[in-house]
Amino acid sequence: MYALVIDGGRPLEGQVRISGAKNAALPLMAAAILTREPCVIRGIPRLSDVAFMGRILTSLGASVRFNGGSVTIQASRIRGFADYDLVRKMRASVCILGPLLARLGHAQVSYPGGCVIGPRPIDLHLKGMRALGAEITIDGGYVCARAEKLRGAPIFLGGRAGPTVLGTANVMMAAALAEGTTVIDSAACEPEVVDLANFLNAMGAKIAGAGSPTITVTGVKELHGATHEVIPDRIEAATFAIAAAATKGEVTLTHVRPEHLRSVLDKLMEVGVEIFENGESLTVRAAGPFRPSDITTQPYAGFPTDAQAQMTVLMTQADGVSIITERIFESRFMHVSELARLGANIAIEGPSAVVKGPTPLRGAPVMASDLRASAALVIAGLVAQGRTRVRRIYHLDRGYEMIDAKLRKLGARVRRISE
Ligand code: EPZ
Repeated sequence: MYALVIDGGRPLEGQVRISGAKNAALPLMAAAILTREPCVIRGIPRLSDVAFMGRILTSLGASVRFNGGSVTIQASRIRGFADYDLVRKMRASVCILGPLLARLGHAQVSYPGGCVIGPRPIDLHLKGMRALGAEITIDGGYVCARAEKLRGAPIFLGGRAGPTVLGTANVMMAAALAEGTTVIDSAACEPEVVDLANFLNAMGAKIAGAGSPTITVTGVKELHGATHEVIPDRIEAATFAIAAAATKGEVTLTHVRPEHLRSVLDKLMEVGVEIFENGESLTVRAAGPFRPSDITTQPYAGFPTDAQAQMTVLMTQADGVSIITERIFESRFMHVSELARLGANIAIEGPSAVVKGPTPLRGAPVMASDLRASAALVIAGLVAQGRTRVRRIYHLDRGYEMIDAKLRKLGARVRRISE
C-alpha cells in the first residue's frame, strides 16, 4: 500500500493541467459495447478505475487497447455475463447493464454493492430497464436482464435524492437501440451525461435534450464506431481550485470548462477567493481571510457532492461558522473525524457538518476512506503546519491522475511512500 507524506503550510503556485473526467470516461467506455466497430476515446485519464473498466470490457470479450491518453475499444464479439468479482469491486461498472441489454438482449451483471458513502441502490436503473421491456430478476447476487426486443417508453427517473447520473446513462444507452422513442423525465443534467449523449450521437444515435431534465431518445437499428474526446474533469478542477484557495496561493488550471464548475467558483468567490477565467483556463488566487458560508449539495448545476469534502477543509479556515449539508448521499462525512485529528472543529448535526473556523491545522497521520474524502485530507495536509501522512491512497488513485506529481509541480512538498 502507498501513503502520501505532505509537509504543509506552503501556498500552491503555478500551473496545472486538468485531466479528462473519470465520471465521463467510464460510461463512454461502456458505450463502446453498443457497436461491433472500433471506438476511440481520447483524453482518457490514467486512473485505476479506468484501467478496471478496461478489464471488465476485456472479460466480456472486447478488445481494449490503451495508448497514452487514448483507448481503442472494439466489441466485435461480446458476452453478456460480467465476472461477479470484477463488477462487484467498482460500482460504476453497473453502466455496462444498459449497453449489454441493448446489444445482446440479455445481461448478467453482479449487483453492485454499496460503499462508504451510502448504500448506492440501483432501483431506478432497473425501473428504466423494465420500462423498456426487460425482465429483471436478482439471482445469486446477479442482476439478470432479458428482453426479446427493447421498446421505447416514457420513463420517470427521479429518486429520493433527485436524478441518477449513471441511471440516466444506462437508460440512454439501452434506449439508443430500442424500437421507438424513449422520453426520460427527471434525467440527470450532469456534463458527463451530455458528454455521453454526444458520443452516442457520434455513433449514430438520435438523442436530444441531454443536459436538461428531459431527454428524448429515438431508437435506431444499429450504431457504428466513433472517435471522441473526454471532457475535462470538473471535480478534479474543483479540487485543485479549492486547494489553491485553502493554501492561499495562486494557481492557473488549464484544460478546464469553467461553466462545468460554476457553482463551486461562485461559492469560492462568495467566501473571498479571486477567480479569473480565460477560455479553457482559470486562475484561482486567495490571500484570505475567508468568509464563512452555507453550502448544500444538489444535483447539477447545484454544488456537487463530489466537492463537498474538499470545500469543508477550506471552511475550517473561514472566520466564523459554516454549515455544509449533504443532500445526495447518506454518509459522506468520513473525512470529518480524520480532519479533527489535524485540529479541525467540525460537528455533525444530521445531514449537516457545522464547521467552526478559523482553526489552525497541524499535521498528523490520517486514513483515507473514499475518493473525495482522501482529496480533502490531502488539501488539509497542504494547509496544515508540519507533516501529514495520508494512508491508503489507493482511494485517491481511483480518481486523480498523478496527483502527487501535479502538486509537486505547484510547489507542494509531497511524496509517495510505500508502507
Ligand atoms: C455518479 O454516481 C458519480 N459516479 C458519483 O461520483 C457522484 O457522486 C454521483 O453521480 C452524484 O452526482 C460516476 O459517475 C462514476 P447517482 P451515481 O445515481 O450515478 C440515489 C465520485 O466521487 N439513487 O446520481 O452512482 C443514490 O443512492 C463518485 O466520483 C437511487 O436511489 O450516483 C444517491 O443518493 C462518487 N436509486 C442519488 O440517487 C438508483 O437507482 C444520486 O446517485 C440510483 C441512485
